[in-house]
Amino acid sequence: MDPIFATIRQIHAIFGREVLSVLIVVAAVYLAFTYRPNAPRNLVTRVFPVLIDIQATLGLIYWLAGIFAGITYFLSFPFILHPLLGLVTAIVGHIFFGVRNPLARLQRWAGPVALGIILVLVLSNVLIAMFARMV
Ligand code: HEM
Repeated sequence: MDPIFATIRQIHAIFGREVLSVLIVVAAVYLAFTYRPNAPRNLVTRVFPVLIDIQATLGLIYWLAGIFAGITYFLSFPFILHPLLGLVTAIVGHIFFGVRNPLARLQRWAGPVALGIILVLVLSNVLIAMFARMV
């Protein structure tokens, strides 16, 4: 495949596997310690959903390029769960860090709980991407 798409896959893989999970844990600790009642949304809660959007967009670009290049398992089960769960993760990120956050009543723990759920989604999705093509 074109080196540009290979680079996009590489960035997507490294960001999803090594970077995102570490950032999630660091952000969860930061949000728990810096919580103040009724404070305006901080930089972390603004930037986080965008990071997941970027990850999902890189995946989407490579996925579409792969489909056009004839990689058939991109559309078959179980790999197809990967793009679907990736998009769900991006949506969940916007819901939990949006203005009407359903976890807001958890106060100090709203951020860490949201990030815990997102971490489970991200790690599950990494495992799907790593093992689905072997099935
Ligand atoms: C939170 C969201 C996501 C995470 C954490 C994530 C993570 C990963 C990782 C770690 C890999 C590399 C796996 C390996 O080591 O071989 C990968 C591959 C890939 N991802 Fe994602 N991804 C996400 C979302 C998406 C989305 C939304 C799409 C498409 C719409 C997508 C499409 C792909 C494709 C096509 C591959 C290449 C698979 C292969 O070459 O076998 N990803 N992803």
